[in-house]
Formats: sequence, C-alpha cells, structure tokens
Amino acid sequence: MADVFSAELAGKVIVVSGIGPGLGRAIALACADAGARVVVAARTEERVAELAEELRARGTPARGVVADITEASDRSALVATTLDEFGRVDALVNNAFVMGPMARADATEPEQWRAVFEVNVVGTVMLSTAFADAMRTTGGGSIVMINSQAARRGAARRGPYAASKAALLVAAQVLATELGPEGIRVNSVVPGQIWGGALEAHYETLAERRGIAVADVIAQVTRDIPLRQITRAEEIASAVVFLLSDRSAAITGQSLDVNGGNWFH
Ligand SMILES: NC(=O)c1ccc[n+]([C@@H]2O[C@H](COP(=O)([O-])OP(=O)(O)OC[C@H]3O[C@@H](n4cnc5c(N)ncnc54)[C@H](OP(=O)(O)O)[C@@H]3O)[C@@H](O)[C@H]2O)c1
Repeated sequence: MADVFSAELAGKVIVVSGIGPGLGRAIALACADAGARVVVAARTEERVAELAEELRARGTPARGVVADITEASDRSALVATTLDEFGRVDALVNNAFVMGPMARADATEPEQWRAVFEVNVVGTVMLSTAFADAMRTTGGGSIVMINSQAARRGAARRGPYAASKAALLVAAQVLATELGPEGIRVNSVVPGQIWGGALEAHYETLAERRGIAVADVIAQVTRDIPLRQITRAEEIASAVVFLLSDRSAAITGQSLDVNGGNWFH
C-alpha cells in the first residue's frame, strides 16, 4: 500500500458516487490507498455496505451511503451524512451512470432518453452543486466527472448514452467556470474500453464466433492502440487520483483521455 502515491490524498474526504463492481470500486480503493477518507454511494445497499466494510478493514475511515443521485432528498442526505461523519468534504467523483438502450435512435422512446439524461447529466450536475455548497465553506475542492469515449465518437446504437456523456463534458466546463473563483476545480476523465469481466465475456463471444482464441481477439483489438493494451480500471483510477490531488491544483475545465493512446484528443 505504501507507494509513491501513498500521501497523495492524505487527510482528504472523498465521495464516490455509483460504486459498482467496476471502475467505481477501483476509484474508491485507489483513493483509500492514496490516504483519503472515503464515502461510497450507490443504490444497492449490500454492495455499498460491503465496500465500506472492506475499506475500513484496510484501515481507511469509510462510510457507505445508499443513495439514488436522481432523488434530491438522497443527494442532500449524502452531503449531510458526509459532513456528519467527517466534518468536511474535499472531493466528489461522479461515477454513477446508466447505459440506456443499445439501439438506433429511431428505435428508442423519448422516455428512454430522459431516463439516461436524468442520471448521467441532471443527477450528476445536481449532486455536484450540492457538494460544491459544502466545499466552498472550506475554501475549495475537486470534482471529477467520469466520462466515456462514447462522448468523443457518435457511434451508432449508443444515442442516449453518448449524447448524455457529451452533455456532461460541457456541463463540467460550465461548472469549472462557475465554481473556479471559489477554488472548486471540475475536470473529466474519459476512459475508452476498460478491461474486466464484461469485456472479457464479450471477447469470448467474438472468439467463438470467429473461431479463434481470445488472445487473438485481444491482439486484433490492441493492434491499433499505441500502448498495445486495454486499459485497466486501476490505471483510470490513477488519473482520477491525480485530478483529485493538489498536484493538479492549476487544472480545471479539462478532460483527460485514459485509453493507451487509442485516440488522441
Ligand atoms: N465499463 C466501461 O467499459 C466504461 C467505458 C468508458 C466509460 N465508462 C464510465 O465509467 C463509469 C463506471 O463504469 P463501470 O461500468 O465501471 O460501472 P461501475 O463503476 O461498476 O458501476 C456504476 C454504478 O453506478 C450505479 N448507479 C446507476 N444509477 C445510479 C443512480 N441513479 N444513483 C446512484 N448510483 C447509480 C450503479 O449501482 P446501483 O445500481 O447499486 O445504484 C452501478 O453499479 C461510468 O461513468 C461509465 O460511463 C465505463
């Protein structure tokens, strides 16, 4: 645990929204490893409780809060619980998201678009302003939006997700402009594909369909990636820790693509 980043977030109180089994969990663990006190939130009580317990078992002061970021009362309760538990808040990572339908736009319903925007944009922005109210009382803070390559590429069958993440990219810039004078920085981390169970299963399906080994599918996918690898959640979490830390004190309104060089922005 004690590596060169061990004191990177020492003493900071960091809230991570939407901790799931993937990136959210990796971000919470990376923040803990970097010395932060951590609040983890999502709708699934069991997962929230388990991760908070795991963090405490590692020696990290941690609190789990069941919260739906689309509910104003849940957002307020998350801020209040954080302040009750730790007395302050230094940073928020907006990881919560929904994917929505994987269908052509002409096969989607208006309500499906609204539901995706409600989480990925409206709930995320409102949670950010709620925490900004608390951050400004202690002189500032850092907010990181977890975005997606979907915002960079208007790929087919990704309409609500891609458009919502593109909206979130600009919303982060708006917040950076509005909150900057109060010492609150707002940045985005933009992952491409993330190595993990879901992607592994997808590659297994592709391998079976093409009659080749999974390793060959990976070789095909990584052929055009300069670093010849699919990024791991821990590598994305490292970029998040940087943007939460004082090392990025002069950086706001920016987006950082973490993708092995798969595309440049
Ligand atoms: N996975 C990828 O390949 C990939 C690629 C590029 C970008 N990203 C971005 O990376 C982030 C994390 O993705 P991930 O796949 O690794 O997910 P994850 O961190 O494993 O889980 C995200 C969690 O968000 C929670 N959530 C959804 N709606 C919520 C709401 N209304 N309120 C509170 N929590 C909510 C869900 O938990 P509950 O159901 O318990 O609430 C879900 O498990 C997302 O922002 C995503 O857009 C992912």
